[in-house]
Amino acid sequence: MIRLGRHGKGTIRAVNCTLKGLVLAGGKGSRLRPLTATGAKQLVPVANKPVLFYALEQLVDAEVTEIGIITGDTADQVMDAVGDGSAFGASVTYLPQPAPLGLAHAIITAESWLGDSPFCMFLGDNFLGGGIESYTARFRDQPCAAQILLRRVDDASSLGVAVLDPDGRVLRLVEKPREPISDLAVIGVYYFGPEIHQITPALVPSARGELEITDAIQALIDAGLEVRAQTVADDWIDTGKKDDMLEANRLILGSLQRRVEGHVDTESTLIGPVVVESGASITGSTVRGPAVIGAGTSVRDTYIGPFTAIGPDCELSGCEIEHSIVLERSIIRNVERRIADSLIGREVVVERSPLRPQAIRLLLGDHSRVDVV
Ligand code: DAU
Repeated sequence: MIRLGRHGKGTIRAVNCTLKGLVLAGGKGSRLRPLTATGAKQLVPVANKPVLFYALEQLVDAEVTEIGIITGDTADQVMDAVGDGSAFGASVTYLPQPAPLGLAHAIITAESWLGDSPFCMFLGDNFLGGGIESYTARFRDQPCAAQILLRRVDDASSLGVAVLDPDGRVLRLVEKPREPISDLAVIGVYYFGPEIHQITPALVPSARGELEITDAIQALIDAGLEVRAQTVADDWIDTGKKDDMLEANRLILGSLQRRVEGHVDTESTLIGPVVVESGASITGSTVRGPAVIGAGTSVRDTYIGPFTAIGPDCELSGCEIEHSIVLERSIIRNVERRIADSLIGREVVVERSPLRPQAIRLLLGDHSRVDVV
């Protein structure tokens, strides 16, 4: 058991100093390779907006505007995208983490910036459908050593899970359990008081070599401090894998409102909620929403089906695509088969080749996946 000093049992104070935000945008992104081989996984766009931006917006909506962002190898890209935070109504400080040594290590990295402030830690690749205003208000009103959010899931084996007692108190937290011991996954939005800084120095790396946040919270429980859990019904996605990205895309596009700022010719039909950003042009095509076509993108003689987000400056002609994400400056030309359930990176070219003999010719990065029929 870890003994607590100055913030020990019974010394939790009301959250009267600023509640800070700590957003994690470091890490490896190995499950989204090759897309994230060189790019930050938190910047992969969902409905044409980096997933990280949803976290920042939700923090600001909950009046958390002093935000520290943990960065790793992709720090430059994150800094370029977020800047000083003013575009979000936030003031952002960058906190470089020397290596992705775990979520609890990220708290150690941020310790001097956090000081004694309570904070909301938001994993930069997590998307939470209903925002965080009510959970943040609860933590402000009833401060405790840690407040965690839980969500029932079908398969929790790749997540942290919580075991509760019959009264809903957290008994135990386990990271990526081998045996199914609970269907309550720990969501990547956590609230902490300053007590956590007395726990982190005593943590030891887990089997995967990381200082686990679940171990840190378990140590708070073992020290007799209050760890509150709220089970939420909101949509929640850890966007670490392709199908999760597509699911987040589907959810966000589900509430899209029609907005047409680009050019749509008279031979084209837009059905349902479709966004055509300025500078985009739709010619002789059908777009069935919800779908978003990025600025400067040209769509010609093409069908774009529901739940599709085409990034800026792409070129689509003579093709059909649905339930997919295409990132900026990619080209899809004269592909006869409909493309579906796909995540296509930046500056990718997919086109029908006139070359003989007819064959599928591929130039794919490491860890790519292609399903052919
Ligand atoms: O998504 C929720 C899950 O997130 C929880 O259920 C788990 O308990 C928790 O450990 C975490 O699991 P993951 O294995 O999915 O975490 P991941 O390595 O994907 O990192 C989450 C985010 O934090 C991601 O945006 C990268 C960033 N990160 C990660 C590490 C390990 C950092 O900034 N620094 C790090 O050292």
